[in-house]
Amino acid sequence: MNWFNRDIITIENFSREELEHLFNIADKYMNIKFKDSLKGKIIANLFLEPSTRTRVSFEVAAKRLGAEVVNVTGEYASIKKGESLYDTLKMLDSYCDLIIIRSPIEGSAQFAADICEHPVINAGDGTLNHPTQAMIDLYTIKNTFNRLDKLNIGVYGDLKYGRAVVSFILAISKYDNKIYAISPEQLKIRNEIKDELLNKGVKIEEFTNLEHVISELDVLYVTRLQKERFVDLAEYERVRGSYKLDLKSLEKSKPNMIVMHPLPRVEELTYELDSTSKQAYFRQAKFGIPLRMAILSLIFGVEV
Ligand code: CP
Repeated sequence: MNWFNRDIITIENFSREELEHLFNIADKYMNIKFKDSLKGKIIANLFLEPSTRTRVSFEVAAKRLGAEVVNVTGEYASIKKGESLYDTLKMLDSYCDLIIIRSPIEGSAQFAADICEHPVINAGDGTLNHPTQAMIDLYTIKNTFNRLDKLNIGVYGDLKYGRAVVSFILAISKYDNKIYAISPEQLKIRNEIKDELLNKGVKIEEFTNLEHVISELDVLYVTRLQKERFVDLAEYERVRGSYKLDLKSLEKSKPNMIVMHPLPRVEELTYELDSTSKQAYFRQAKFGIPLRMAILSLIFGVEV
């Protein structure tokens, strides 16, 4: 398996076999609290956009493996004083053994990988890529259904700007599933992504009304409205509140259907769902630890 010293930029670069290998390693980390296999390694968390789960779970995963972590956030980085991303990355590359980057600018992670000697992990850039979130999402489905194919997968919400949901669509379409893309008209999946999927023979259909398809779904992946990506805030206000998942919307769903969400949630997912058996988003977030422990181990080439 080709994981050693590897950059993780987009989920599209990973084969089903490579992902299966990752999930097997994550299984082993599920019950391991601490190992010092990465003792002596220093990992840079460069986050130029807000994050709770990705930043913290990478930090916890690294610390559970004995590595040290340095956090560089947008607010305190010298980028605020006008330093270029290039210079910032060059410094981190000379100080650390691996760089994790989140940035609002599409292509930042690939740029980092191109100029850094150490491996780079994309923790989300622009509107397209959040590859480690997609790995967690697949792992959650596999953990629930014991398979990743022959499922009806609904994706619901802001399919235009949500990088987590787009990465998830690209990931789950590696397997034989049917994708129901459900969103208000203004938030439909971008044509270039839909065309790419259709060209690959992926079964994907678009809907504007969740009620029409809810009874067919095995998985419903909800995503928030990405306020920060709207160029025109008036446009954001127009679509705000145009979709929401509550208990009533799930009345006709299959008994074993699960609700996923990359989180954070804002207004699109009501808290009343948290205590139902369909709620899978908290374990999805929790799987971030074993999954990211597995990613770090594989990149550094250490045994479980
Ligand atoms: N899912 C996710 O990326 O969450 P954060 O923005 O909190 O990292």
